[in-house]
Amino acid sequence: MPRSGLRVKSPDLLVAESGADREGHGLQRTIGPFQLVCFGIGAIVGTGIFVGLSDTVAEAGPAVIVSFLLAALTCVFTAFSFAELGGAIPVSGSSYSYAYATLGERAAFLVGWCLLLEYGVSVSAVSIGWGQYLNELLENTVGWHIPAALADAPGHGGVVNVPAVIVMLLAAALLVRGVRESARATAAMAVIKVGILVLFCAIAFTAYDAGNLSPFAPEGIGGIGAGASLAFFSFIGFDAISTAGEEVKNPRRNIPLAILITIGCVALLYCLVSVAALGAMPWEQVGGKPAALSLIVNHATGSAFGSSVIAVGAVVAIASVVLAVMYGQTRILMSMSRDGLVPGVFERISPKTSTPVANTWIVSLVFAVPAAVVPLDVVLDMTVIGTLAVMAVVNICVIALRRSRPGLPRRFRVPLYPVAPLLGVAFCLYLMYGLPLVTWLQFAVFLLAGALVYTLYGRRRSRLATGGEDGKDGEDGEDGDASEPVTPRARG
Ligand code: ALA
Repeated sequence: MPRSGLRVKSPDLLVAESGADREGHGLQRTIGPFQLVCFGIGAIVGTGIFVGLSDTVAEAGPAVIVSFLLAALTCVFTAFSFAELGGAIPVSGSSYSYAYATLGERAAFLVGWCLLLEYGVSVSAVSIGWGQYLNELLENTVGWHIPAALADAPGHGGVVNVPAVIVMLLAAALLVRGVRESARATAAMAVIKVGILVLFCAIAFTAYDAGNLSPFAPEGIGGIGAGASLAFFSFIGFDAISTAGEEVKNPRRNIPLAILITIGCVALLYCLVSVAALGAMPWEQVGGKPAALSLIVNHATGSAFGSSVIAVGAVVAIASVVLAVMYGQTRILMSMSRDGLVPGVFERISPKTSTPVANTWIVSLVFAVPAAVVPLDVVLDMTVIGTLAVMAVVNICVIALRRSRPGLPRRFRVPLYPVAPLLGVAFCLYLMYGLPLVTWLQFAVFLLAGALVYTLYGRRRSRLATGGEDGKDGEDGEDGDASEPVTPRARG
């Protein structure tokens, strides 16, 4: 293996570049636990529960509750690892930067590449879900819906998914103008999301019939596992909590607390929604249906009013996730571009708007393609496998950093080390195992393409290798030559 792939960027260099340790540059610690929980809920609750629930039900039947609990456990272990790394290396590149600091440049590039699935392809999936509820809302309010040909992917009765493309372009238009959710809007959004789901439960429980929940696990353990893999999509976004590390009051206490409370609340909410949904309607009638929550409310009340309220809430809630996830993707590409691993266009900031305009439009146009022509289940599975791979790596990074830099100050340390990160890896692998073979094959091709791009482009252009503005480590950039204090791993 060429040694260049093992180039490690020291945590000190990463922090120095980010400016987080510079006088006057540090962010203010203003975020308390409540805001942090709202922030987490805002990033998490979206297409996964409003739309993906019906696919999860199709896999697991009423045992979907167990699937949600398994997905939640995976997130808890991994979230601790994010919290430790976020406190030790407080930079915006998140998992990509953690891999760069511990496992080396090639692994970091591949993590960044997989983040195209966790963020980019995820934004396509979330947008497709948004389109389903928009159509439901149009149908309920004006008695018209976008014709199937223009509202779904080929092979699913459609030709092109126009609403999904529109919401992505709208999100890009807002982001290039610098529009982001304020702290107050984030809190309001979280309250709206929770409120809509609680309202759904209240309505669905009026039609509750315990008989609908039996048999409880018609698809057996395999169905529960496959359901857990899909349910995981609805938890994606919890890592956003640890990225706020620099702005949180008393982060050592508040970050793990907020993570546990957020995942606990979301898991409880999802389980309640599942029980209410499946109690109200037999699982075979819910499985795989579009805009399933509206459908169930319609079934429970016999009127379109309740389902319209749910649809309005879903349209607003899911749009906020589109905005947040697209923002995340542009920032990750900026980090990679600063390191020279992807073209410079991704780090260019427009002097007019102070935002990465070209980056944002490229992201929205590229990922509008899968949103337009790929079915939801395919983009959802790809998002899940890519995210789980990243999360497994993040758990490994905790162990690698403890070994390479035991003395690095850490605001938070994972409990039960090394059991917790190892369990995190095991849970990630278990959920990956639940995905279909075709998803594994697609993922293998995707990773091979990533390895090729790294070999032909990233490895040669890396600033750590070429001694660009950041790295000054000599000609060939062999590991161990970094100008900043290097980790023992880099010297190896
Ligand atoms: N967890 C996010 C959603 O469900 C991705 O929309």
